[in-house]
Amino acid sequence: MKVLNVVFCVLYGLIGKVVCFHCDENAAHCFTSLDIKSAFTMIGKGNISQVYVKDRAIYSINPAITDQVSIDDIITADGWNQTRHLITANGSMPGPSIIIYEKQKITILVTNHMINEAVTIHWHGIDQLGWPAMDGVAFVSQCPILSGQTFNYTFQPTFGGSYWYHSHVSNQRDMGMYGAFIVLR
Ligand SMILES: *[C@@H]1O[C@H](CO)[C@@H](O)[C@H](O)[C@H]1NC(C)=O
Ligand SMILES: *[C@@H]1O[C@H](CO)[C@@H](O)[C@H](O)[C@H]1NC(C)=O
Ligand SMILES: *[C@@H]1O[C@H](CO)[C@@H](O)[C@H](O)[C@H]1NC(C)=O
Ligand SMILES: *[C@@H]1O[C@H](CO)[C@@H](O)[C@H](O)[C@H]1NC(C)=O
Repeated sequence: MKVLNVVFCVLYGLIGKVVCFHCDENAAHCFTSLDIKSAFTMIGKGNISQVYVKDRAIYSINPAITDQVSIDDIITADGWNQTRHLITANGSMPGPSIIIYEKQKITILVTNHMINEAVTIHWHGIDQLGWPAMDGVAFVSQCPILSGQTFNYTFQPTFGGSYWYHSHVSNQRDMGMYGAFIVLR
């Protein structure tokens, strides 16, 4: 299981933009980070600019570019044929997977690189017994992380399982971000 997961992390890093963090099985306390940034769905780099979907393929609105645009170069998110602002962790959607082992403590340094938005990260399904401020619900269990600020989430999951993390944002018009959070037994 351990070997498989490491291979999965590396392969993903090579073929796509999503890489993952996999804690060393013998470590008592793992450290990783997430960079929270703004992005747009259905927008390509440079002269590709905005894209649209036709006949199950992605094309640029730039009439000079007639070739299909690779799905690896676009954040499609909900798949709608329109551009929306969204929040990303480490530049991808979904964000990188975070994989640890039962009984390990983890610290995730979250940096808010967005210009005009606050953010917090909720670790969905994780019991935050003893450290409610790590639950990541802005204005309920913690102050939001403002633009340019950093915040360390440190907690120790009680049970193994497949969980996920997602953003809580101050601006509800934007699309949030999510990623996998795995606790191996
Ligand atoms: C996120 O990106 C930072 C900077 O590149 C990297 O150090 C960190 O390991 C990444 N986090 C995860 C969970 O992959
Ligand atoms: C997306 O937009 C393009 C260009 O306006 C249009 O040709 C296409 O039918 C649209 N596709 C969907 C699935 O709405
Ligand atoms: C788009 O930009 C790429 C990279 O800068 C360039 O190689 C290509 O010729 C450009 N295509 C058009 C149609 O402008
Ligand atoms: C987060 O934790 C790391 C590792 O312990 C530490 O170096 C860093 O100063 C902490 N940052 C904040 C903002 O608490």
